[in-house]
Amino acid sequence: MPELDIQGEIAKVIAQLNAAVTNIGLYTAAHPQVGQYVEKTHSLLAGMLRERPEVTIMLVGNDLVAEGHPLPSDSAYVANFSRILRRKSVERLTFVAGLPREELQGFIQDLAASDAASIKTTPSIKLGKVELRVKQAGESRGWVGGDDTPIEVLEELAALTANELDQLKDVYLRIKTHKQIDVKGVDEMVKRFIKGFREEVNPLSLLASLKSSHEYTFTHVVNVGILTMAQAESVGFTGEHLHAIGVASFLHDIGKIFVPEEIMNKKGKLSEEERMIIETHTTKGARYLMGTEGIPKLAVLASLEHHLKYDGSGYPSIKGGWTPNIASQMISIADVFDAMRSRRSYQEPQPMSKIESVLRAGAGRAFNPKLIENFFKLIRM
Ligand SMILES: [Fe+2]
Ligand SMILES: [Fe+2]
Repeated sequence: MPELDIQGEIAKVIAQLNAAVTNIGLYTAAHPQVGQYVEKTHSLLAGMLRERPEVTIMLVGNDLVAEGHPLPSDSAYVANFSRILRRKSVERLTFVAGLPREELQGFIQDLAASDAASIKTTPSIKLGKVELRVKQAGESRGWVGGDDTPIEVLEELAALTANELDQLKDVYLRIKTHKQIDVKGVDEMVKRFIKGFREEVNPLSLLASLKSSHEYTFTHVVNVGILTMAQAESVGFTGEHLHAIGVASFLHDIGKIFVPEEIMNKKGKLSEEERMIIETHTTKGARYLMGTEGIPKLAVLASLEHHLKYDGSGYPSIKGGWTPNIASQMISIADVFDAMRSRRSYQEPQPMSKIESVLRAGAGRAFNPKLIENFFKLIRM
């Protein structure tokens, strides 16, 4: 089933679920009208579950994300279903293949029951919170960069990523010189990083330390990749979705290869014209990725959207109250964090306290507040 169809299918499931819950409120669970909605929901879900082992819906902030795709927040039934889930403190809902009709009926009845009534995970309907799976380390770790970098952190970085960094550098060099993406190379890289997360270290300890401002673009994409995948993993993305988010984060700034280096590395203030040229890295990157075979659609979207803010402002300007994809939302947090903590030709690394206050102040406008909260839990601040 193509990705876009999945989004549409889940939207239909939610519409039916919503109708079932509302009708239980109006009549009773035994009313034939309710039975019809349960039946319809069940057959839609069964159809989807024939092609995949699970279907997951997550509540991230005010957004409903189904199988990795945000659902339109202006739709009344999506908004209503978000409210129902929030009321029941369910942030993550997974339907498993083989879901029996009776189990679904029970779940719908629980959803419709009074606010205080609890709702439980059943064999084919798993409920949960969107929460961190990062283990709390006994000792706190410093963050890489600045003068207070603990030696052991650097050693850990060297051990875990020296190889990965070299390979990614290779991939990047090829992109830069031949304007050609080694899709397999990027895929491999993402797989290695995902494996690295099993070690459950603080993602901050994996960040590449900046050697010179020349390496900035390269180091930056690695860091944004690490911080984005760590976020994605922690909110519950797995498998192909986590992988696509990884690829998207590594390629988010790919459009910069079309911006002259003298503008990219300019010391001092940019002119209005130069700023506009830099801003085109979003649209140029998206167009370039769109024409590259084997690149997930999500990477095209993330390249386009990563400088768009949560409230739809930012660039490129997109009309009609556009909300960036959840992957782009995570990338933009990682992006701003890494840009502020890095030494640039025009800027010294910012103190952690300043970075934190900038990000927190942007929660709700520039950034998804739920993701900001999650991010600081993730890097243990
Ligand atoms: Fe960018
Ligand atoms: Fe960036």
